[in-house]
This record gives sequence, structure tokens and C-alpha cells, in this order.
Amino acid sequence: MHRNKIKIDLLIHDLKGPLAVIETGVSSLLARREKYGPLTDKQDKVLVRALRNTKVLQALVNDTLELGRSRAGVINVTCSKISDVIEQSLVEIFDLVDRGTSERIKICADLPRLREALEEKGISLLIDEALWCQEVFLDEAKIRQVLRNLLNNALKYRKNRVEVVVEKGNNHLFFSVTDDGEGIPQIYHKKIFESYFQLDAANTLTVRGHGLGLAGVLVLVEDMGGVVSLESDEGQGAKFSIKVPLTNR
Ligand SMILES: Nc1ncnc2c1ncn2[C@@H]1O[C@H](COP(=O)(O)OP(=O)(O)O)[C@@H](O)[C@H]1O
Ligand SMILES: [Mg+2]
Repeated sequence: MHRNKIKIDLLIHDLKGPLAVIETGVSSLLARREKYGPLTDKQDKVLVRALRNTKVLQALVNDTLELGRSRAGVINVTCSKISDVIEQSLVEIFDLVDRGTSERIKICADLPRLREALEEKGISLLIDEALWCQEVFLDEAKIRQVLRNLLNNALKYRKNRVEVVVEKGNNHLFFSVTDDGEGIPQIYHKKIFESYFQLDAANTLTVRGHGLGLAGVLVLVEDMGGVVSLESDEGQGAKFSIKVPLTNR
């Protein structure tokens, strides 16, 4: 690996320590008032916001490190329950924008109740009950990062609804995330998977934000030996699908 790349990865890696200290400290102030003393409503609000943003930072650091590992060919296959992979991705998304919903997702005992909680947020989750409970071999960290990115985009660009479909073939797992937003014109379908590319509302190139999410999704999926596809047209919403191979070990 390039020496400079190692330096940057090390720097990112070393951000984890101080971030964990901040997270633990703020969490303690919020959760253990008998030890640290009472908080006013305003103090509570400030700390909740600080904690949420610390978690955003932690997620970014972890995602960046995972992407680096992926590029280096590190695939970390474990046996995971599909329900855990999906629930965890949803919790990670809603933790940052809507704590109430993420808490609700955490305590959902079964698929019907989770679907109900998501339905209230305009999200349909379509998956077979049998598949929901199944265990599969996959690189869970990568799959979660991919799902989070696709779902975050769909939630950002939708008009009203998002649909998530999960299916299993003989040797593959299929995920799709569909929204009913403005969609993406054909001529940009390749472009949006390139780093730093974003479209603004008028379908012109902008430099707002990062435009790194989909580039990362493509890298992660391809490194797992999978494929990403996009079906979308102007004004027609967007459907991002991924197909990843399942290993037997
Ligand atoms: N579901 C979607 N609907 C419409 N446009 C999308 C969707 N997902 C991604 N895009 C377009 O692709 C660009 C790149 O997306 P992404 O790589 O995730 O970067 P970012 O989320 O930082 O903008 C977005 O800025 C947007 O223009
Ligand atoms: Mg994005």
C-alpha cells in the first residue's frame, strides 16, 4: 500500500480512541444523573445533539476504515441472521435522525411489528418470514454500510415512500431500495457511482455534500463479488439493486 495512504488510514484509525472517550462521557452524563447530577432541559438537548453527532463521526470513521479494508481485499465473512443485519442497519440510520424510531426498532420483537413501525415512516419492508429468520454467510459490516447508504439516499430523495425488498436465490442474496422521488436521468447513471459527483435539483452538477456514498457502495459490493444496478428515469423514482454471492463458509 502507498505510504501516504497508510498514514491517512492510521490517522483515521486513531480518531476512534478520542471519539469513544467523548461518546462514553456524554452518554454517562445523560444516563447516570444520580452520579453526575441533574440536567436542565437545555443541557439535556445540547448533550443529546453532541452525542448524536459523535455517533455520526464514529459511523464515518468506521465506514472509511471498512472501505480501506475492502480495497485491500479484506473480506470478513461471518454467519449472520438476516434479521440482525437489516435491523442493525435501520437502527444505525434512525439513531442519527430520529431516536424515537430507532428505539422502537430495537424493541420490535418480530417482523410484523418491525414492518408496522417502518410503515409509519413510509418504508415498506418486503421479505419472506422464512428468510427473515435465516442465517447466511456474508460480510455483515459491508452489507450494512451498503444498505445504510442506499436507504439514506432513498429517504433523502423520496417524495413519500421507500420500498426495501430482500430475496434469496440459490447462491445469491438480493436487496433493492426503491424510492418515489425525482429519479436520475439515464445519462447520469454511470456518473453517480463516481466519487464527488452529485446532481442538484435542476440535474446540474453541484459540489454540495460529498457524493462519496454510491462510489463506496460500488467498491464494497464489487469487492464482495457482487453487482449493483440502477433502474431510474427522470421523474420516475429510483431503484438501486444489489446482488451478492453467498458463500457456504
Ligand atoms: N435515490 C436517489 N434519487 C435521486 N438521486 C439520487 C439518489 N441516490 C443518489 N442520487 C444522486 O446521486 C448523487 C450521489 O449520491 P451519493 O454518492 O450517495 O452522495 P451524497 O449522498 O453525498 O450526495 C446524489 O448527490 C444524487 O444526486
Ligand atoms: Mg448518499
